[in-house]
Amino acid sequence: MSTTPSSAKLRVLLIVEHHGDVFLLREMVNEEPHSRFVIGAEAGSLADATTRLASGGIDVVLLDLELADSHGLETFTAFRKTAPTLPVVVLSDVEDEELALQTVQLGAQEYLVKGRIVPHLLHRALRYAVERARADAQLAHERELLATLLENIPDRIYFKDRRSRFIRINRALTEFFGLASAEAAYGRTDGDFFDPAAAQQMLADERSIMETGQPILGKIESKTLTNGEVSWTLTTKLPLRDRAGLIIGTCGISREVTAFKTLEEQLATERHLLRALIDNLPDLVFLKDAEGRYLLDNPAHMRFLGASEFSEIDGRTPFDFFPDPIARVLHEEDMAIIRSGQPVYDHEQKVADISGHMRWLLTTKIPWLSEGRAVGLVSISRDISVQKLAELHLKQANADLKSRRQDLMAAVKDLQEAHQDLRATQLQLVDAEKMKSVGRLAAGVAHEVKNPLAIMKMGLEYLSTLPIEDETAPLILKEMSDALHRADTVIRGLLDFSAPKQLEVRRTSINVIVNQALRLVRGEMKRGCQVQRELQEDLPQLALDADKISQVFVNLFTNSIHAMGGGGTLFVRTYSKQLTGVGSNISDQRSESFRVGETIIVVEIDDTGPGIAEDKLAKVFEPFFTTKPTGQGTGLGLSVVKTIIDLHGGTIDLRNLPDAGLRVTIMFQA
Ligand SMILES: Nc1ncnc2c1ncn2[C@@H]1O[C@H](COP(=O)(O)OP(=O)(O)O)[C@@H](O)[C@H]1O
Ligand SMILES: [Mg+2]
Repeated sequence: MSTTPSSAKLRVLLIVEHHGDVFLLREMVNEEPHSRFVIGAEAGSLADATTRLASGGIDVVLLDLELADSHGLETFTAFRKTAPTLPVVVLSDVEDEELALQTVQLGAQEYLVKGRIVPHLLHRALRYAVERARADAQLAHERELLATLLENIPDRIYFKDRRSRFIRINRALTEFFGLASAEAAYGRTDGDFFDPAAAQQMLADERSIMETGQPILGKIESKTLTNGEVSWTLTTKLPLRDRAGLIIGTCGISREVTAFKTLEEQLATERHLLRALIDNLPDLVFLKDAEGRYLLDNPAHMRFLGASEFSEIDGRTPFDFFPDPIARVLHEEDMAIIRSGQPVYDHEQKVADISGHMRWLLTTKIPWLSEGRAVGLVSISRDISVQKLAELHLKQANADLKSRRQDLMAAVKDLQEAHQDLRATQLQLVDAEKMKSVGRLAAGVAHEVKNPLAIMKMGLEYLSTLPIEDETAPLILKEMSDALHRADTVIRGLLDFSAPKQLEVRRTSINVIVNQALRLVRGEMKRGCQVQRELQEDLPQLALDADKISQVFVNLFTNSIHAMGGGGTLFVRTYSKQLTGVGSNISDQRSESFRVGETIIVVEIDDTGPGIAEDKLAKVFEPFFTTKPTGQGTGLGLSVVKTIIDLHGGTIDLRNLPDAGLRVTIMFQA
C-alpha cells in the first residue's frame, strides 16, 4: 500500500502526565515510517481527557495509569466509564503481571510497560487494540442480533449437547415448556417435557443426525404435551459443530403448525365429505375447463362415458368418447354455456350413452366463475329414463284406455241398437201373432155374416120387384141396399185379409197386370184423374199370383185416387235394374231383401195427393187403420197389400214425394 493520507490516519488520545513520557511517546507515534497513527489530542489528567473526549474524533487511547487525579487500576475503570467502547492501550511504570491481566479482563486491549516501549511495539499494540475493539464490537453486535432473534422469534429454537440435553433454548421454547427461565431447561431432555413416544422419536432423530451429519428438514411432528394437548410442529434439525467442525450436539427450530394442521384436517375432512357425496350421488356429475376438457367427474358419469377410472377421462373431451356428430352437440352445448356465462336449469334431453342406449337426462349446467369470468362449467344430470318410460307407458295406457272406452261405448251403442232391433222384432212378432188372431176372427165373422147378408140381398131384390104404394118405400129399400153393399165390402175385405196364404203362381208380365188393374179402377177415375204410364217393354216375366197382384194394384190405385179427391195425375212406372250396392237408392230395409248383383223389377206408383203424415206412415199397414170416415174406408187395404207382397218375397215402401204426393215402390226379384 502507498502512504496513508494523514486524514485517513487513526487519531490517538495521549493521556500521560509526565512530560518526558509525553515527549517520548509523541515522537514514537509520529516518527514511525508509514505510521497509521497520529496524535490527535493530549491530556494530562482524567478530567482533561474527559473534556477532550467530549469533542470526539478519537480512534484509540494511550492511557497512563499514573495521573495527577488518578492512580493504578482505578484510572482504567474510571476511564472506561467515560468511554466504554474506545480501544485503550494501558501504560504502566511497572511490569506487574497481575495488574496487566486485570486491566485486560476489564476491557483494555493492550498493556505496555513504559520503560520497554519501542516504536514498532507501540504501533503494533495500537493496531491490535483498534482491531480487537472492532472485533469485540462486531462480536457484541452479532451476539445482540442472535439474542434478538432468540428472544423475539415465535419459533422454538434449541441447542443440545451430544446426549440430547438442552444447552440453550430461546424464549419461545422457554414459554412453551412453561419455564420461568431458559436456564431451567438446561441439562434436561425432551423426556422431561414430552410424552415418551415422541421423546424417543426425537432422540432417535438426533442420534441419526449426529451419526450421519445429515440434517432433517421440514419434518411435521406431533407431540403430546404433559398436559395432554397435542402439538403439531414443522421442525428442522441440524448437527451442531464446533470450530473444528466436530459434531458436538444438535440444534433445531420448530414452528407451531397445529392451527394449520387442524385447518388442513378440516379441509381434508370436508374434501372427503364432498368427494364421498359426489361419488355416491347417482346423478352424473362432471366439471369441465374453459376448453371443454373434463377436470373431474364421479363414477356415475364415468359409467356414462364407459370409463372405469378417472385417468381415462382426465383432460379428455366428448370427442374422445362419442362419434363426431354426438360429441359435437355435447361439446357445443357446454361451450355455449361457458361463453355466455348463463346457467341452464333442469333441461330435459334424450341422449345415447356410450353403448348407444337412449337415456333421458334432466340436466343442470352452471358456469364455473372465477373473478367474474367463466373458466369452465359444472354439470349435474339425473337419469330420469325410468320415470320417463313409466310416463310414456302411462300415456300409452291412457290412450289404450281411451280407445278401449270408445270401443266399449261403441259396443254399448251396438248393444242398445241390437236391443232395439230385438225389441222391434219382438213387437213385430207380437204384431204378427195379433194379425193371425185378427185374421182368424175376421174369417170366422166373415163366414158367419156372409150367408145372412146373401139372404138379405136376395130379400131386398125380391122386395124391390113388388108393387108398393108407399112413396118412401123405394127410398128405404135403396138405403138398405147401400148399407148391405157396404157391409158386403167389409166382409170381402175381411175375407181377403184372412184368405189362406197360398199363391197360385204363374209366369206373368207385370205390365199386363198393371194395365188390367187400371182398367178395374176406371170407374173411380171418372172424377178427373189422369193416368201416365211409363212401362218398360222388355221386362222379364215374373212368377206371380196374377189375381192377388191385381188386387194389390187396385187397392193402391184406389187409395191414390181417393187421396187426390177432385183430380190429379197418377203415374205408374215399371222398370228393371241391377242392384249395385254403392250409390243405390234402396233403403236399408229393402237392401236386406235383395243382394247386390240381382236384377230387380220395380213398380212405382206416384200420386199428386197430400201424402201421409210422417207419424202415420208407420201405421198404415196395420189392419183397420184408416183416416177415412165410416163407410168410406175399412183400413184393410194396405194390410192386404202388404200380406200379398210379403208372400211374393217382394218389398213395398211408402214415402212422401218432396213436393206433394206419395210414392209407393214395389220391388220383385226377377
Ligand atoms: N195414396 C195415398 N195418399 C194419401 N193417403 C193414403 C194413400 N194411401 C193410403 N193412405 C192412407 O192410408 C190409410 C190406410 O189405407 P188403407 O189400408 O187402404 O185403408 P182405407 O183406404 O180403407 O183407409 C188411408 O186411410 C189413408 O189415410
Ligand atoms: Mg184403401
